[in-house]
Amino acid sequence: MEYFLGIDIGTSNTKAVIFDRAFHVAAKGNSSYALDQPRNGWAEQNPLEWKKAAKNAISQAMREGKIDASDFIGIGMSGQMHGLVMLDAENNVLRPAVLWCDQRSVAECEEMTERIGKNALIATTANPALPGFTASKILWVRKNEPAIYARCSHILLPKDYLRLLLTNRYDTEVSDASGMQLLDVPARQWSAEILERLEICPEWLPKLHESVAITGYVTAEAARYFGLAEGTPVVGGAGDNAAAAIGTGTIKAGRAFTTIGTSGVLLTHTDAPRIDKEGRVHTFCHAVPNAWITMGCTLSAGESLRWFLTKVLKGEISVSQAMREAEASPCGANRLLYFPYLMGERSPILDSYARGMFFGLSGIHTRGDVIRSILEGVSYSLKDCHAVFEHMGIAFSSMKVCGGGAGSKLWRSILANMYNCKVLADDYAENGALGAAILAAVGVGAYSSIDQACSCVGFADAMEQPNSRDVAYYQKGYGLYQKIYQDVKEDYRILSEMTS
Ligand code: XUL
Repeated sequence: MEYFLGIDIGTSNTKAVIFDRAFHVAAKGNSSYALDQPRNGWAEQNPLEWKKAAKNAISQAMREGKIDASDFIGIGMSGQMHGLVMLDAENNVLRPAVLWCDQRSVAECEEMTERIGKNALIATTANPALPGFTASKILWVRKNEPAIYARCSHILLPKDYLRLLLTNRYDTEVSDASGMQLLDVPARQWSAEILERLEICPEWLPKLHESVAITGYVTAEAARYFGLAEGTPVVGGAGDNAAAAIGTGTIKAGRAFTTIGTSGVLLTHTDAPRIDKEGRVHTFCHAVPNAWITMGCTLSAGESLRWFLTKVLKGEISVSQAMREAEASPCGANRLLYFPYLMGERSPILDSYARGMFFGLSGIHTRGDVIRSILEGVSYSLKDCHAVFEHMGIAFSSMKVCGGGAGSKLWRSILANMYNCKVLADDYAENGALGAAILAAVGVGAYSSIDQACSCVGFADAMEQPNSRDVAYYQKGYGLYQKIYQDVKEDYRILSEMTS
């Protein structure tokens, strides 16, 4: 038999999913790790944890499916975007990776905007300077850790660090590279001008490819460590959101999806770059050649629920029990509003100082109400992104939901009522790994195009329809949600300066 391997380096775990030629799941492996938050608003992970986790996940999947290394005809990768991995000349990891939800580089974003100019930055990189993106993190290390910066020889994104371990090459592809803020996103090439203005050495960057290109082959050393076969082709792959776009069939204008993983994303395919002048939503290259994506990103989606269940409830109840209790709470959670800004917020408010908040707590509230308010608060934040899309005139005729949150019928129906449109969910739980495997399949020539490969995927849809009563409630709730944030916005800054 011939198989494709999709590896997805997420924020909470790495998944390895093995697909047959028709993209049925043959076996899966999964290995988790922690999200380190050494300070309020900081987020880091040690890249060597990803290495170990990838090895574990791959061997678990191969064992479960009784699959031989020689059966893989292509490997594709997807991963959390933006993370800064710095290596020295011998490929030693210089410091923990600074992740996509880290907010430490606000001052460096101001510096970037000054050096380049807001309009020029948006015209080239398609986005304003954001602490979540890689460039400002590089400047932060230069300013705050000069000794580390002086030893740097290579800068990679999380999945491209794994690629280096697999192929011994420094490569990336356009969808993930878009989130480094060093790419000319409309032109799909590194921006010499941005690199020069920021004084970042172009030689540190990996070689850029389209997402369907073969970037290298598994080396003998990697074959021994990961249990793979030497010479297996490794294809570009994609940042996790572009990969999930492929893995949900979001490959044509008019299609969109929402993913609820650690972060929450609302993403749509566009045939040309569509850039919000205020930068409230992001524009990146799609993994589909000659296409782009526009997406809003709320930083703590599944993370809000995980925080509540693990840090507050200390693992007292399972996710399924949490969902059962939330189902018993009515629409609006008995007038309780949650703001999911645990790590600050990106789209659309772009506020590194914002933090989470419950509004309206009462003695009548139960654990189920609080959990339901978390699901609704994350969904309000996604509705906030949806409103920007509407403002930009980007319309879509279909909406899928994926990621861990899509497994909850309740969360799916809250989204249907927030967006006031029907939402569809595939029974593929791992759309990111599927997207990576589809890119591998196209890269090695098993399919002639992404479109052809996607048309062979049996997307089986569960559907949730909006109902007018909940739609009306959330419409009103959304007005209040927006107002409350505006009312307290300045106070977040005061809070951030308080010390004990
Ligand atoms: C997108 C983003 C997150 C990460 C983590 O801009 O920061 O969605 O990719 O999954």
